[in-house]
Amino acid sequence: MNVSEATQRRASIRSFLADPVSDKQIRDLLEVASRAPSGGNVQPWKVYVINGDAMDRFRTFISSRSPGESEYPVYPPSLQEPYRTNRFELGEAMYEKLGIPREDKPARFAHLARNYEFFGAPAAFFCFIERNMGSAQWSDLGMFLQTFMLLAVEAGLDTCPQEAWANHWQAVQEFCGAPQEEMLFCGMAIGKRDESKPVNSLRSERMAVDEWATWL
Ligand SMILES: Cc1cc2nc3c(=O)[nH]c(=O)nc-3n(C[C@H](O)[C@H](O)[C@H](O)COP(=O)(O)O)c2cc1C
Repeated sequence: MNVSEATQRRASIRSFLADPVSDKQIRDLLEVASRAPSGGNVQPWKVYVINGDAMDRFRTFISSRSPGESEYPVYPPSLQEPYRTNRFELGEAMYEKLGIPREDKPARFAHLARNYEFFGAPAAFFCFIERNMGSAQWSDLGMFLQTFMLLAVEAGLDTCPQEAWANHWQAVQEFCGAPQEEMLFCGMAIGKRDESKPVNSLRSERMAVDEWATWL
């Protein structure tokens, strides 16, 4: 599989098979993903892997906790166009695949809550960053995470990056034993996609290049 193929195949998977992923496979992927670039080679990512027994313990632990407010603003307070529409359309396309109409708020809420089960993924990690890091280092996390996601595809695995966990930061921080200097960015569900689930056939839209690229 080449990079283009991995990039085209990667998608945010929202229903996983229970097939286990080995710690070694995750370690190998993390090691290669750490070849991702970072400004000044700072490598600001902090990763806590949850797999096997730890996943069983985590599922029990998190089921007794409730999400609250994110520590960081996941979106600007008033998302402007065209970003607002992009976000809205993604939500509508996703709920259409799930067969959940707009007025069925309980079903939509129940789907959102599936975030906190990693959509059934057998393995996951949480990505933290030290609080005194700035936006440039946060962008380094993105490079690392996307590199991981592409390598996972190459290895026959799938992923879902999950900011939803930012709303559960206190519980996640506690379970991981992460020091207060570290701040949770997101979770990453890892496993194999359940091809039989329509939600995984969602092909999210992209704006045309000319809408965001300018040739001078
Ligand atoms: C940093 C980050 C956090 C995300 N958080 C969530 C999340 O909490 N729950 C979710 O279902 N999708 C989440 N997504 C997936 C996005 O909705 C998805 O990347 C976008 O719609 C594009 O679709 P694609 O990943 O399938 O190409 C996240 C993506 C990124 C990059």
